Amino acid sequence: MKPFLAQFGDAPPASRPLWLMRQAGRYLPEYRAIRKEAPSFLDFCYDPALAIEATLQPLRRFDFDAAIIFSDILVIPDALGQKVRFAEGEGPRLEPIDTRADLARLSSTLDVQRLQPVYDALRGVKAALAPEKVLIGFCGAPWTLATYMIAGRGTPDQAPARLFAYADPEAFSELITRLEAACITHLLNQIEAGAEVVQIFDSWAGVLPEAEFERWCIGPVARIVAGVKAKYPSVPVIGFPRAVTGGFFRFVSETKIDAISLDTAARLSEVRAALPAHIVTQGNLDPLVLVRGGDALERAIDGLLSATDGTRHIVNLGHGILQQTPISHVERLVERVRG
Ligand code: CP3
Repeated sequence: MKPFLAQFGDAPPASRPLWLMRQAGRYLPEYRAIRKEAPSFLDFCYDPALAIEATLQPLRRFDFDAAIIFSDILVIPDALGQKVRFAEGEGPRLEPIDTRADLARLSSTLDVQRLQPVYDALRGVKAALAPEKVLIGFCGAPWTLATYMIAGRGTPDQAPARLFAYADPEAFSELITRLEAACITHLLNQIEAGAEVVQIFDSWAGVLPEAEFERWCIGPVARIVAGVKAKYPSVPVIGFPRAVTGGFFRFVSETKIDAISLDTAARLSEVRAALPAHIVTQGNLDPLVLVRGGDALERAIDGLLSATDGTRHIVNLGHGILQQTPISHVERLVERVRG
């Protein structure tokens, strides 16, 4: 069995699989070189040859156990008809949604034709991938997608989406429901095209009070997991409710995800102790300690390995790898995890 999938089997192996969020990207000179070949970031994502190449680049350098398809969470708003672009050096820009009229202009179903290049890229990666590696598909969770769709950009506190949800919960709920359906379709299509594991990124889950967290994060993710499992019961689903400060057991048991990705501030030993043994944990390593390297990195890896000894854990960062990360530090991490 592939080492990654063995974590989800009856008897987890002693070794811990390893991959890194955003493992394809700007810290790699070979990515920066091909990034120039497309006029914009979205054009890059929708070019199967470029997306295949970017997905495979990190696996040529590092002995990771998984490839994650090179794409972005914002292809879903794009395929719902909202204008999305990536301003160079500034991040995503969308036509903001301020009113019910703006919402009504969104398409009610996902334009899967628009997303066809993503599925073509998955097929291409799957054909090229070594047999012991797994291919991960992904989507953004409805709440996180809604924060970008309403604000039209990244914000420090997601205030526009939170205010919209307080002011007009009915309209906001309609948006979330539409996004749930889009996420299910997109994940099922990715599995159809070769994804063997899927991850749901709820990067902004941590800003919500308990009641809103239940309504806008737990509920939608639970319905997405149910939609995926109805067709593919054995495909593992990883949830990433980033920056939440408690309620991990509840999140896992109510959403029925197979694995939970933990951000840097989560107390790994405590969370592990609170979760049933069959649940897989992932992540938690500080992206900045990987930037720093040296003794700090050695201590962090020792701590991570001892906190997860004998448990089901996938080694990963607490958030995406940073652009300034030296390649030699990633090599050292792989060497240490491989023992
Ligand atoms: O992990 C991987 O290697 C696969 C590719 C991947 C990207 N984005 C490529 C990308 C994945 C899994 C994502 C997820 C994503 N995208 C999230 C969830 C995870 C997280 O980071 O919280 C979010 C919130 C986005 C939205 C997004 N995309 C933002 C806010 C930005 C700008 C910030 C930045 O880092 O520039 C992007 C752009 C983006 N997505 C880049 C990459 C490699 C950089 C753009 C470039 O190379 O020109």
